[in-house]
Amino acid sequence: MERLDKLLASTGRWSRREVKLLMKEGRVLVNGVPVRGGEEKVEPSAVRIQVDGGDLEIRTRTYILLHKPAGVLSATEDPRQETVLDLLTPELRRQGLFPVGRLDKDTEGLLLLTNDGDLAHRLLAPKSHVDKVYYARLDRPLGEADREAFARGITLADGLKCMSAGLELLGDGQEVLVTLHEGKFHQIKRMIASRGATVCYLKRISMGPLHLEQTLGRGEYRHLSVEEVIKIGGKP
Ligand code: URA
Repeated sequence: MERLDKLLASTGRWSRREVKLLMKEGRVLVNGVPVRGGEEKVEPSAVRIQVDGGDLEIRTRTYILLHKPAGVLSATEDPRQETVLDLLTPELRRQGLFPVGRLDKDTEGLLLLTNDGDLAHRLLAPKSHVDKVYYARLDRPLGEADREAFARGITLADGLKCMSAGLELLGDGQEVLVTLHEGKFHQIKRMIASRGATVCYLKRISMGPLHLEQTLGRGEYRHLSVEEVIKIGGKP
C-alpha cells in the first residue's frame, strides 16, 4: 500500500504541491470516487486511478537478474553494438530498466537491471560496500603472497589504492575467486595485473545476497524473488 499523494508525485508529472491542489479540486478519482486527502493509502495494482478523467499509469518497479554474456555492452543503448537491454523482451525494454553498475564487454555473469533509481543509487554509493564475487581464470597461478597483498589492499599501477579484497586460490591458483567491496574501472583486471598475471576469463557470480545460479544460461534472465528484492533494499 502506498500513499496516494506520493504515488502521484512518483510519476514525475506533478510536484507534491500540484498533487495537493489536484486532490483538493477533486480531480483525482480512485475507483471513480474523488479522493481529497493525500494520506489515503492504495494498492496501485488493485485500483483504478484517474486524473482529470485520464487513467494514470503507475510504473511498477522491476528487478531483473541477467546472466550477461561476453560481447554485450552494459549500457541502455548504443548505435552500433548490442546492449544488455537488447536481450530483453520489448515489454521489459519499455520499462526504463538500466544496469546497476557495469561489467566489461568481455566479462560475463550476474548483472542487476532495474528501474528503481533509488536502489541503484544506494547500491552504487561508495560507502554501500556491497560484496561482489568474481571467478577469474588467469594466464599463470597466483599464490599466498598475492592473497596477502589483496587482503592488505592493492595499489594499482596509476597509484589508486584499493580496499582490502578477498582472493581465494582454487586448485593450483590459476583460477581464483575475488571478492570486492567496491567497484573501480577494470578493477579485477588491474589488481591481477599488479601481481604480474593477466585475466583470461572473468565472470561475476554474486552481488550481495544475489547469486547467479548454474541453471541460468548466458543471455538468460529472471525476475528477482520478493525475498531477494527485500534483501537488496528494493520495493517488492
Ligand atoms: N573488474 C574488471 O576488471 N572487469 C569487470 O567487468 C568487473 C570487475
